[in-house]
Amino acid sequence: MKRRSIINLLTISALVLLFAACQSKDNFTGREYMPDMAHSIAYEANQNTYYMFNHWGTKDDYQKFVQPRTPQDGTVAYGRTKIADSLKNDLTYPRYAFANTDEDRTKATEMITSNALKPKNAAELENVLGHGKELYEIYCSSCHGKAGDGNGKLYELGVYPAAPANFMSDQFLSSNDGRYYHAIMYGKNVMLAHADKLSHDERWKVIHYIRSMQAAKSGADYSLEASRGEKSIKPEAKKEEKKDDKKDEKKGK
Ligand code: HEC
Repeated sequence: MKRRSIINLLTISALVLLFAACQSKDNFTGREYMPDMAHSIAYEANQNTYYMFNHWGTKDDYQKFVQPRTPQDGTVAYGRTKIADSLKNDLTYPRYAFANTDEDRTKATEMITSNALKPKNAAELENVLGHGKELYEIYCSSCHGKAGDGNGKLYELGVYPAAPANFMSDQFLSSNDGRYYHAIMYGKNVMLAHADKLSHDERWKVIHYIRSMQAAKSGADYSLEASRGEKSIKPEAKKEEKKDDKKDEKKGK
């Protein structure tokens, strides 16, 4: 009788210990009797949750194992832009501060006043425009036209009933870059969003290319300064320049 109750007591305390000692808490994954059998342990990224049943390496190996590692080439960084030169590729999709509402479209148009991608030299500008043209002709020209005048093939054929924006019109020549960026992010009415098709840098390359077409149309030079926002290509700026030229001529006389 006595022996039996001792065995019972031992069994019960063993069971209690077994269940009580293995509790997981916060970032500690808990201990398991026969680990990795019933289910795998859900590891926390970059947390050293070394456990005593580990048998594949030493404690130091384990410590090394939980250090953050260099991402694979081609990894797409979330919420970062290529402007950080250390990134290996330009496929980034940073968060965008404006919502898909008319109010925010106006705000973005007012607040985003210059192209985020500023070429450092002529070769880089040429590269940006080359890639921008390629992307524009893939993603935009079917509607907005190769020349950016809104007469794309789809619209010409009558397949697409709504008139795409004419980037050569005054309102688009004088508009800030934000209007373009916002349209790429969310589309507008029947134009669908292109945020998933173009990365941050690619969107800005397309905008550079549109600006270069506008400059060519109005006879301005899309120079390095113009592409960096240090010189305007807007028609009013050109007129003012001409006026100034005349003043200079007069002064010269
Ligand atoms: C399938 C046709 C189609 C494609 C492709 C397309 N658009 Fe559009 N886009 C339109 C139409 C239609 C409108 C006019 C929307 C409206 O005003 O109702 C428009 C309007 C715009 C506007 C003006 C938005 C505003 O604020 O009024 C911009 C800027 C623009 N598109 C840029 C682009 C760029 C850049 C691309 C390529 C990445 C592109 N679109 C691809 C059809 C298209």
